Amino acid sequence: MERHNAEKRIEELRSLLNKYSYEYYVLDKPSVPDSEYDRLLKELQDLELEYPDLMTPDSPTQRVGGQILDMFRKVTHDIPMLSLGNAFNEADLRDFDRKVRQAVGDQYEYVCELKIDGLAVSLKYENGIFVRGATRGDGTTGEDITANLKTIHSIPLRLSQPLTLEVRGEAFMPKHSFLGLNMQRENNGEVLFANPRNAAAGSLRQLDPKIAASRKLDIFLYSIANAGGVNISSHSEGLDWLDTLGFKTNQERRKCDNIDEVIDYVNGWLERRPHLPYEIDGIVIKVNSFAQQEVLGTTVKSPRWSIAYKFPAEEVVTTLLDIELNVGRTGVVTPTAILEPVKVAGTTVGRATLHNEDLIREKDIRIGDTVVIKKAGDIIPEVVNVVLDQRTGEEVEFRMPTHCPECESELVRLEEEVALRCINPKCPAQIREGLIHFVSRNAMNIEGLGEKVIAQLFDEKLVEDVADLYRLEREQLLKLERMGEKSVSNLLQAIEKSKGNSLEKLLFGLGIRHVGAKAAKTLALEFQSMDRLVGTTVEELTSINEIGEKMADSVVTFFQQEEVLELIQELTVLGLNMEYTGVRPVVSSEDDESIFFGKTIVLTGKLEQLTRNEAKEKIEMFGGKVAGSVSKKTDLVIAGEDAGSKLKKAEELGITVWNEEKLVEELSRRN
Ligand code: IVH
Repeated sequence: MERHNAEKRIEELRSLLNKYSYEYYVLDKPSVPDSEYDRLLKELQDLELEYPDLMTPDSPTQRVGGQILDMFRKVTHDIPMLSLGNAFNEADLRDFDRKVRQAVGDQYEYVCELKIDGLAVSLKYENGIFVRGATRGDGTTGEDITANLKTIHSIPLRLSQPLTLEVRGEAFMPKHSFLGLNMQRENNGEVLFANPRNAAAGSLRQLDPKIAASRKLDIFLYSIANAGGVNISSHSEGLDWLDTLGFKTNQERRKCDNIDEVIDYVNGWLERRPHLPYEIDGIVIKVNSFAQQEVLGTTVKSPRWSIAYKFPAEEVVTTLLDIELNVGRTGVVTPTAILEPVKVAGTTVGRATLHNEDLIREKDIRIGDTVVIKKAGDIIPEVVNVVLDQRTGEEVEFRMPTHCPECESELVRLEEEVALRCINPKCPAQIREGLIHFVSRNAMNIEGLGEKVIAQLFDEKLVEDVADLYRLEREQLLKLERMGEKSVSNLLQAIEKSKGNSLEKLLFGLGIRHVGAKAAKTLALEFQSMDRLVGTTVEELTSINEIGEKMADSVVTFFQQEEVLELIQELTVLGLNMEYTGVRPVVSSEDDESIFFGKTIVLTGKLEQLTRNEAKEKIEMFGGKVAGSVSKKTDLVIAGEDAGSKLKKAEELGITVWNEEKLVEELSRRN
């Protein structure tokens, strides 16, 4: 075809294909069969091949996924992408409404929308052409995922008017695409995605856009970030305008005149939610008038004119098959429920911690019971209650053993503790867990010594105490499972390197009761050397600001033990540094910080690896704020052993809950 004609035909084809895409993907009303679309697309592809210079970034041929990227570029959002405050019940919604009325009076309107469970993205158009799409990231900086977003057919590559604007919305994977994808992955023996949100996020974070193209993603736009000079005065007008430009917005939105209507809308969707073709995790409520939005303003994190009502956590019923006991580093014996695997909130759950015997009694949990489980804060599985009318009489009451399941020595319940402990210092479980602790990040930080390797070394009797780690030889390590030349060399190097660690790392690693990472640092700083610390007294210790009676006692008792002094002697001979050598500055990337950054965190229950103060300091170091009580403003609750009313409240409010292990893991990833 002649160039002149090709140019004309290309333009014609693009218009037609855009129109068909819009009808099919946005309006859900196709006007031509798929085969016709494919035929025209092929014609366009051929013409663009013949005249590559006529190719443009907004061509429909771009949707099939082009070149593989090396990495995603960082994008700074011109206008930050905030998130929303949460409401978990009617009272929260009424509270929100009261504040709105206080600020703007009684003349106002809400828009209620479905809260789509996907990931927030921002789309930028210049002169009507889609030029850049980005993830939310930490709200300030996201990643450029333009190539992947172009594969979403409901995103117009060219608008009906040559406008420059930025819009925001939620990219998601419809339920049927998700099911299809997982079926395909199962057939291929690939790991399944836990839920549509993860699948959508996983697809958009692929460097090869062809993968996103194959994943059938979709989008609903829900706000205009920046539309320079357009005359719109409310959110609902904005959404209607987005419709006219060719964007896909969610049509289930409703205007409500008061909070009662909002609550009706919320309750209606609580019931209808399972019938939607995509997942929602709540309802978003927004004050409609832009002028009133401005009066209400925003906090650093979220607008005051909007709130997200979160649906309650999913609860499911399953059978409790058994109760397993685990002995931790400090000898605490923890019961864990072994469950008939069941899907809860997107993942399969087979275990749930039962915390301690008191909790088992309180809930009257028996082996063989039908139990209701949920994920606290959608993360940690737990038994909510027993379904009593399903009891057959065959269920077996559980008794905590009187003796340690690992070493058979008698268990004791220390004063004021709910937990049962094995106090045999030679208990293999405690030694193994102690070794795992010794090599962990905050302690000696020996990379390559994971739990599995430690367990093998211990079972093979190659390592019986921490000193043995420094006596390991190449040949011994080579005999272990999955340990090749390279990993053995790396491991030996890491062990060697750890000898030079500053004193606090060794102190923390030794696992002195009540001495967490922060206290270890205080001790190392104050005493400068192991020698001086070994000879200290309770008086000297308690004169230090941050050290209380309990810790002082524990330190002194620790260093009075003959075995401890011998161990320190051995470690010195093996070449371990016993001096304080200064603090290593904390280096962390922006992304790493953001998990705690700006978050309000509440600590509750007994922490084992860190003291409250250490956890607080660490969280603050990464930009988080530690608060004393749980409220709607809380972002995260860290629940240690025997957490009580605060954990309960957090669950009622649907706040994310982590256990200590998860906290330590996240903190140490940033260390
Ligand atoms: S409005 C200032 N509307 O929920 C933030 N968000 O924390 C404006 N979401 O990050 C967000 N559906 O990813 C809004 N109809 C909807 C939404 C929605 C889903 C997501 C969005 C946001 C999070 C709220």
